Amino acid sequence: MRAVVLVGGFGTRLRPLTLTMPKQMLPVVDQTMIERVVRALGHHGVTEAILSLGYRPDAFMEAYPDGICAGVGLTYAVEPEPLDTAGAVRFAARAAGIDETFIVVNGDVLTDLDVSGLWDFHHTHGGEGTIALTPVEDPSRYGVVPIDADQRVIEFVEKPPVGTAPSNWVNAGTYVLEPSVLHRIDEGRKVSIERETFPGLAADGSLYAVESSAYWLDAGTPESYLQAQLDIIDGLRGETEPAVHPSAYLEADATVTHSVVMQGAHVGSAVQLINSVVLPGAHIEEGSVITDSIIGSHARVGSRSSLRDLTVVGHATAIDAGSVFTSARIPASENQ
Ligand code: GDD
Ligand code: MG
Repeated sequence: MRAVVLVGGFGTRLRPLTLTMPKQMLPVVDQTMIERVVRALGHHGVTEAILSLGYRPDAFMEAYPDGICAGVGLTYAVEPEPLDTAGAVRFAARAAGIDETFIVVNGDVLTDLDVSGLWDFHHTHGGEGTIALTPVEDPSRYGVVPIDADQRVIEFVEKPPVGTAPSNWVNAGTYVLEPSVLHRIDEGRKVSIERETFPGLAADGSLYAVESSAYWLDAGTPESYLQAQLDIIDGLRGETEPAVHPSAYLEADATVTHSVVMQGAHVGSAVQLINSVVLPGAHIEEGSVITDSIIGSHARVGSRSSLRDLTVVGHATAIDAGSVFTSARIPASENQ
């Protein structure tokens, strides 16, 4: 089984963390996001992951120089310019010479979805494509996918205005596709799989969907990137993983409550961490209180600071002692 993994987006919603690295290279507890995605595919029999790259492709190549990630072989397809989701799938599939049924996943989705079950369903129903669906409270951020009694997709509505969604089952960003779908995607221009290819397949009655209530999270926003990690230390993904890396240094009177502290981070005296994530090598100086926030790698938070409500501190960014931030992005960036 071969899978195209879409990882070429700019990760704008996760800025400033994604100003210097692609979102899928961000760590989630102690593995990168891409490693978690590829590992899950490997569990379902995927032997080759074709990474569809655009933004900062070198970061992946440097991290996996031998071309193996979580035991799965990697192939790199680097777009000359962003081609959007369907354009990227076409480009990557052609580059890898795909001529059989294949899998596509959005590289920012962390899930325990049964990909093998999706694959089997696809083969027994004969569509050109089968997509996995997950239930969400607010479908307006996703692709909404109503289906009929035979699980055929009636229509595909990408990001409908709030309150207008025909269903709260949304595109989970995992597909099984026939190579014939590639013929439906124009070459050399931006094509959105959600706004163009899937609506076309649905209109032709060639698209099926399978509902799943397995663990699922799109980790592409600060809130969900934080949530993804707290879910892991809470044991929602099977075995609980340690919240504090063995190489992190915590002063004896620091308190770490429902938070992740990564490799080589330093948490100073009387610091309080609550529902937060501290990336590798970051330094939180004495007396600071960090609540519901994310501290980038090698950042430094000066003493007695207060950071809360989804404040995000960029990598290698220093914050003065005594700072107070609420819902801030530091440094501030456009397109937050
Ligand atoms: N190679 C490449 N080129 N990859 C891209 C491009 C591109 O031009 N644009 C986006 N991507 C990658 C992103 O890196 C990400 O892994 C994936 O495609 C999806 O893009 P997002 O920007 O994360 O989309 P979204 O989260 O708003 O919506 C998508 O995912 C939802 C589920 O998480 C859609 O597929 C929705 O329909 C879906 O519900
Ligand atoms: Mg996303």
